Amino acid sequence: MYVCLCHGITDRAIKKAVTEQGVGSVRELKEQLGVGSQCGRCVQMAQQIIDTTIIDESLFKEVS
Ligand code: FES
Repeated sequence: MYVCLCHGITDRAIKKAVTEQGVGSVRELKEQLGVGSQCGRCVQMAQQIIDTTIIDESLFKEVS
């Protein structure tokens, strides 16, 4: 699913940036992928994806 249409960024690309590059905020995501740097409509959705990915990741770490 596309989150940022202006830059063609998908939810998967955002999750990958969080898990592999340690992105923890929309500001960092903007620096890495350009998300939110044009119309800004994607910012809220991007924030939610970052949050849920971080939560999922921390749960996974506790189990393993
Ligand atoms: S949809 Fe992301 S900046 Fe426009």
